[in-house]
Amino acid sequence: MDIENIQNDYLARVEAAADIESLDAIRVDAIGKKGEISLLLKTLGKMTPEERNVQGPIINGARTMIADVIAARKEALETAALNARLASERLDMSLPAPQRHSGSVHPVSQVMDELTEIFADLGFAVAQGPEVEDDWRNFTALNIPETHPARAMHDTFYFPDKDAQEREMLLRTHTSPVQIRTMMDVAKRTDGKGEPIRIIAPGRTYRSDSDATHTPMFHQVEGLVIDKAIHMGHLKWTLETFVRAFFERDDIELRLRPSYFPFTEPSAEVDVGFSVEKGKRIIGGDRQGKEGGENGGWMEILGSGMVNPKVIENCGLDPNEWQGFAFGCGIDRLAMLKYGMDDLRAFFDGDLRWARHYGFDAHDVPTLSGGLSGKGAAA
Ligand code: DAH
Repeated sequence: MDIENIQNDYLARVEAAADIESLDAIRVDAIGKKGEISLLLKTLGKMTPEERNVQGPIINGARTMIADVIAARKEALETAALNARLASERLDMSLPAPQRHSGSVHPVSQVMDELTEIFADLGFAVAQGPEVEDDWRNFTALNIPETHPARAMHDTFYFPDKDAQEREMLLRTHTSPVQIRTMMDVAKRTDGKGEPIRIIAPGRTYRSDSDATHTPMFHQVEGLVIDKAIHMGHLKWTLETFVRAFFERDDIELRLRPSYFPFTEPSAEVDVGFSVEKGKRIIGGDRQGKEGGENGGWMEILGSGMVNPKVIENCGLDPNEWQGFAFGCGIDRLAMLKYGMDDLRAFFDGDLRWARHYGFDAHDVPTLSGGLSGKGAAA
C-alpha cells in the first residue's frame, strides 16, 4: 500500500475515534513499537541512499503528521469529556437550600414574652416565686383557710413531708402566692409603711387534672396593682388595654361578671367578646355578646377583683392606706385562643412536629422568657 493511502487511512480513523481508548489503540497500530509506520521506518536502513533520501522524509513526515493529529484529537476528546462532566455535575445555586431546623420558641414562651412586653409598656415589673410553695402563701394568706372548700377544689399536689420549718409544702396551684411574696417583700423593705406596686407574675402552676383543656402543669399570669386610690375602673381599663394589644384588635369588648374569690372583694370574672367568622371563633368583631355562641358571645378568660383587705393585712401592710386590684389568667388558653390550637395536652407532649408547626422562629422574638427562667423569688 502506498504511504499516502496508509497515512490517510490513519487520519480518517483518528478523526472517527470516539474516546481516548480507541484513539490509543490507533496510536499503537500506527506509531507504537510494532506499529505500521514504525515498521516502515525500520525499512529505511535497508534502502539505498538514493531510495532513503526519497522515502525518509515521506515516512517520517507521515509519522509526525499522524502523531500530531492524534495529540490534537486527544486534547479535543479530553476537553469534551471535561465539559460533559461539568455540565452533568453543575450545582444549581438558584435551588432553595435544604431547611435547617435550629429549634423553635414554644408558643407558651412566645405568649409570655408578648404579655410581658405589653405590661412592661404599662409600667408593670415582672415578679417571680418558687413552684414549690408553702400552703400558707398558696392558701392561708390569700384568705383561703384550711376548712375552705377552695382548697379541695384546687386538686393540690402536696409533698408527703413538711419542710424544716414544719410547713406543709405543695406545688403552687396558682400564681397568686407571688402577690403574697411581693407584698411581704415591700412590707419588709419599707418597715410596714408600704409603697405602690405594679407587677405581673407569669409562671408554672400545678393541679391534679387532665383532659383536652387541663394538664397537671399549666401556666398562669398573675397581676397585682397596689396604690392609694386604685378602683375597678383601673382594673377594667388595664385588662381592656392588655387584651386589645395582645389580640391585636381595637374592637374587643370585656364584660365583668360578679363572682367570688376569697382573696378579692368584690370579685369579677372577666369575659371577652367573640364573633364567629367562617365557623371559627374570633376574639372581638361585631357579633360580640350574641347569645348562643353560634354567631358570637362571651367567653371567660380570667378572674379578678379588688384585693381583699384581709390579704393586704396578712402581708403586713395597712389596708386602710393601701388598696388595689389583682387578676389571674391562664397563659396556655391565651395561646390557644390567639394561635388556634385546640388540645392543651399537645403543648407538653414534646412532639417535634407540633413544635415546628406551632413554634416561633427564635430570631423573631425578644429574649424575655429566656431571661426569666431560673431566677429566684419575687423581684
Ligand atoms: N388564682 C385564681 C385561680 O387560679 C385566679 C385569680 C382570680 C387570681 C382572681 C387573682 C384574682 O389574682 O384576683 O383560679
